[in-house]
Amino acid sequence: MSNNAGRAAVTDLRVAFAGLALKNPVLAASGTFGYGVEFEDVVALDRIGGFIVKGLSREPMAGNPPPRLWETAAGMLNSIGLQNIGARAFVEEKLPRLRQMRNIVVIANVFGYTREDYEAAIQVLNEGEGIAAYELNVSCPNTRHGGITFGSDPRLLDEVVAAAKRVSRRPLIVKLSPNVTSIAEMARVAEAAGADVLSLVNTFVAMAIDPETRRPRIAHVTAGLSGPAIKPIALRMVYEAAHAVDLPVIGMGGISTASDVIEFMLAGAVAVEVGTANFWDPRATENIVRELEQWCAEHNVEKIADLIGAMKSD
Ligand SMILES: Cc1cc2nc3c(=O)[nH]c(=O)nc-3n(C[C@H](O)[C@H](O)[C@H](O)COP(=O)(O)O)c2cc1C
Repeated sequence: MSNNAGRAAVTDLRVAFAGLALKNPVLAASGTFGYGVEFEDVVALDRIGGFIVKGLSREPMAGNPPPRLWETAAGMLNSIGLQNIGARAFVEEKLPRLRQMRNIVVIANVFGYTREDYEAAIQVLNEGEGIAAYELNVSCPNTRHGGITFGSDPRLLDEVVAAAKRVSRRPLIVKLSPNVTSIAEMARVAEAAGADVLSLVNTFVAMAIDPETRRPRIAHVTAGLSGPAIKPIALRMVYEAAHAVDLPVIGMGGISTASDVIEFMLAGAVAVEVGTANFWDPRATENIVRELEQWCAEHNVEKIADLIGAMKSD
């Protein structure tokens, strides 16, 4: 017997798409990982595939009034209201520290309330060194069109993606809203407008009421539902989007274990994002990478990329 008997081979966890090369497919999701710097003493940032920073706008924003979080059965409602320090402060105050860290991938999440807001935020971020890509959050109300969210209307989605693509100096990931009738249609609209990659899902519009006080649990009344509660719906949407377009698709929604990651990859995702799990385990991303190595070794997977879209349907 050789010395290697019984020892599983090390799996190649690398994935590459749209000019991005990730050491593994596990990214931390926007809004659940701060600006990355807050996690440097908690997570080995060079062990995870990368992270997406909190959504950035052209100006700093204070967000919604409390209460803004509520735990539900297997999930979480949030109405943070896109509080952030603004694109300029990110470039000047956070990026210099991130640039000192070796071997990490930083993706900037961007949002706005008008097309011009998105363009202005991207133009500021274009000046910053050390950003691998942009992720466009289109689950935002368009204040010029009566508050309908960009990502829920094909015309608005087309307009904002095309505008962002025109000004962007980096690969453009369009993060789709799940609050639509046909995710396949929205995926195709984003592809035609110039998206390089799609990511989905953002949170589902939801709410909770306190029966004792008869008041909403969240001051803003409606909020975004995330966490394990949404996983099967998110998985279905990732599957549908991945089969509707030729673009790479990043999947997310309720991922908290290595086998969740495998499910999303089999459905067609090239990589995944982990969000709410970071709230109950700040090391979730790093732990999932370790579990993923183990899972792949146990299942004789040589290259994790071989699992992308490999669901059997016969
Ligand atoms: C507290 C909180 C804040 C979030 N902020 C953002 C954000 O700024 N931009 C964005 O695109 N998505 C944001 N999201 C959505 C997540 O990135 C992710 O799409 C969603 O939570 C689903 O994944 P999960 O079930 O793993 O959390 C936020 C989610 C939570 C829970």
